[in-house]
Amino acid sequence: MNILRRIRPAIAALQPYSSAHMETTEQALAAPQARLNANELPFAPPVDCGFQLNRYPHPQPPDMRQRLAEILRVPDNHLLLTRGSDEAIDLLVRVFCEAGEDAVAITPPVFGMYRVAAEIQGAQVVEFPLLAENGFQPDWPRLQAELPKNTKLVFLCSPNNPVGNSLDASAVLAFCQAVSSRALVVLDEAYIEFSPQKSLVDAIADVPNLAVLRTLSKAWGLAGARLGALVAQPALIAIMRRVLPPYPIPEPVRYAVMQATDQPAAKAARQAVQAVMAEKKRLQAFLSASPLVKQVYPSDTNFLLVRFYQPERVFHACAQAGLLVRDQSRQPGLAGCLRITVGRAEDNQRLQSVLQVLATQRKSEEQP
Ligand SMILES: Cc1ncc(COP(=O)(O)O)c(C=O)c1O
Repeated sequence: MNILRRIRPAIAALQPYSSAHMETTEQALAAPQARLNANELPFAPPVDCGFQLNRYPHPQPPDMRQRLAEILRVPDNHLLLTRGSDEAIDLLVRVFCEAGEDAVAITPPVFGMYRVAAEIQGAQVVEFPLLAENGFQPDWPRLQAELPKNTKLVFLCSPNNPVGNSLDASAVLAFCQAVSSRALVVLDEAYIEFSPQKSLVDAIADVPNLAVLRTLSKAWGLAGARLGALVAQPALIAIMRRVLPPYPIPEPVRYAVMQATDQPAAKAARQAVQAVMAEKKRLQAFLSASPLVKQVYPSDTNFLLVRFYQPERVFHACAQAGLLVRDQSRQPGLAGCLRITVGRAEDNQRLQSVLQVLATQRKSEEQP
């Protein structure tokens, strides 16, 4: 069955909002004599900012689409630009899930927005916990056998936040095949640039029920720009555009992202990823040797999940030193775990100093 049959009937029948922009041909847009169709002010504010603020932006700016298509190595008709991948998560749930009827499957411990988006929409959330004893891989046989019939979306995260491990790519593809008539598999690759694994965007052409989420918030250092991308087959992208607000990408964002992803910036971003990876290795070695630490989980990301003997004490000592780390102890299977983002060398050094002081204190407390 075509996966598009699983979208909500109201979305399939929706007459989307038709903006002034959509009613104008690209040719007319390229060289307008005068734009008298969008109730914009004809005068720009007196700020020298390098972009036009008095005009509505292009809904999916062509230069940005082309840039993202190059970066992600996908055809541009496989792309939807969104305000961070958070927006794509929200839109997917709204397109597929009927409130009070349909379900979203998640694999905790995992990124929290899948559940929040489902709950906002009134969709049921079904949990298939990752198997700690199997390196936090999903329980594939259980997922296949027990996925409720009303499940429209299965969110997978690889590399996974908050654990840091990558999912087995061939198992993900086999799972897509197994649920091809039932559910869209949404693979969140927010951290893929830090991973030795390849992105699964290449598989999309052959797998209609696979959608991949990508973002510029992590490895590109552009969290403040809020730019994400949904990669999927063109028919699904066309449906998603129906529910995307008319002008989602602000001009300042387009302007900044185009500069921050040109060739020199792309080289700097790759170097930054390398620097973070080198720092991660150092921090990993330090933490693994620390007497405060029970376990450091393997990570294909820019963060480390660490299980401490006294997590609250570590958390508070860090906070007192102005170091913010994330408590993950409420996630299933992660009692005692903190998630530490790899920072600059000096930040990581400061963290190590705080932990060293704590370790010394603990040692003296243990002595009779
Ligand atoms: C796994 C995962 N997906 C998506 C996001 C959201 O990213 P964006 O900034 O693109 O909305 C995050 C943010 O932390 C994340 O960890």
